Amino acid sequence: MSDQPLTGHECPGDPCTIVIFGASGDLTKRKLLPALYNLKALKLMPENFAVIGVAVSDSNDELYRTKITADIKEFATRPVDDKDWEDFSRRSYYIAGDFNNPETFKHLSAKIADVQKTWNLPGNVLFYLAVAPSFFAKVVEQLDIVGLTTETAGSWRRVIIEKPFGHDLASARELNADLTTHIAERQIYRIDHYLGKETVQNIMVFRFGNSVFEPIWNRRYIEYVQITVAEELGVELRGGYYDHSGVVRDMVQNHILSVLSLVAMEPPSSISGDSVRNEKVKVLEAIRPMEPEEILANTVRGQYGAGLINGKHVPGYRTEADVNPDSNTETFVAMKLQVENWRWAEVPFYIRSGKRLAAHTTQIVIGFRRAPLLLFGKNIENNIMPNRLVIHVQPDEGITLDIHAKRPGPSINIANVPLEFSYSDFGEHTAATGYETLLYDCMIGDTTLFHRYDSVDASWRIVNPILDIWQALKARDFPNYAAGTWGPEAADHLIEKTGHKWHHYLLDR
Ligand code: BG6
Repeated sequence: MSDQPLTGHECPGDPCTIVIFGASGDLTKRKLLPALYNLKALKLMPENFAVIGVAVSDSNDELYRTKITADIKEFATRPVDDKDWEDFSRRSYYIAGDFNNPETFKHLSAKIADVQKTWNLPGNVLFYLAVAPSFFAKVVEQLDIVGLTTETAGSWRRVIIEKPFGHDLASARELNADLTTHIAERQIYRIDHYLGKETVQNIMVFRFGNSVFEPIWNRRYIEYVQITVAEELGVELRGGYYDHSGVVRDMVQNHILSVLSLVAMEPPSSISGDSVRNEKVKVLEAIRPMEPEEILANTVRGQYGAGLINGKHVPGYRTEADVNPDSNTETFVAMKLQVENWRWAEVPFYIRSGKRLAAHTTQIVIGFRRAPLLLFGKNIENNIMPNRLVIHVQPDEGITLDIHAKRPGPSINIANVPLEFSYSDFGEHTAATGYETLLYDCMIGDTTLFHRYDSVDASWRIVNPILDIWQALKARDFPNYAAGTWGPEAADHLIEKTGHKWHHYLLDR
């Protein structure tokens, strides 16, 4: 099974020209090129395609080919086949230009026409905006001005936009209004790399491809849901960006709320982009934005101080490069949300995420209610944990269902035992970047895994009041957790108030 297509789709994407804005950036060399190359190796890239890189740095087609050949050697996630790469490289082009200068877009338009002629390509063009958010609207406007966003007979024009989509609700709305002046919603692919992760995509298959879970997937059987996205890494070289963002904007508004909506949504009527996205947005709309006093009671923020990660001393957040030494930015959040609908009323959804935590792990825990009758004696019952389902998003992708079994022996002695499925059971998989499925889906016009604007808006409506309160009431106790721990103690108190505990899967075993 080792080299099966990543997505299970069989047909290659539509023949197209892929234009990458930000072609000399980190995202392009570390993720996008390796992902496109993986698609080629898996025969999911159209046979006929071309890639045009656009960036400010001075270069030309030949130099660009030399550069990406060196990059792919360094960042490919699979051995590079000379023949495949040679074809990829021949089909790669470059134009230098400032995104503020309308001339760049005239050149681009001419270059696309040229390349399409050379390779006899149809009019399909995928524009990937791997650029700073301040350029999103500008680039799209200029593309429109030179006519590059116009779809003509049977051909498509699509734009992939990276996060962050806005800095808050107002700026997200403004950005969206700017974009939709020039392109239609169906042409906008708001990417979220979490939705490209195998285990996240598997949530839907797990819920709706099995008949045993859906009947119990509700408040009668589920007591709580926990989503943890913990990183050991700090802000690395992104202090400048992160200090204006913080973990709520960086992780919760997009990745975590999107994962939560997959866990909580109603079954869609089909797997098509809009059916799934209709259900996801309903979940977000059912999370009522909190009032100020609810925010104080149901959220905890933190910022890391110096500490130990894997035995190595690491500095505190405020001394990281490009971070304000008095920064009030949160690097940790824990919160309790309520999805106010019939399926989930009164079931707490606990989410937490942070940098420089004790482990690198993303997991979703579904905590089931205790069995209704104490058949085996109170003492035994008190020692056994209620059933739990854990979706290990990363690392060690898999699913575990904790159940109870009788230990062998004459008396009744009950043990908690795991039923486990691990992705490694599928055999060895070639590592991927996580962008393969998303790029491929864009090439076939499948929007399921991309954010539609209504869900972006709904997510901002949830987090914006929290950010406003935090902005108004500066944290007095930052830094309030040491690097290498599970965040501030207040995060434990938050969940203990409702009789629960954070599930530290790696440590609980
Ligand atoms: C990005 C955030 O979207 O996701 C980063 O900007 C974060 O701050 C990263 O580190 C986490 O992604 P992953 O795939 O490593 O869990």
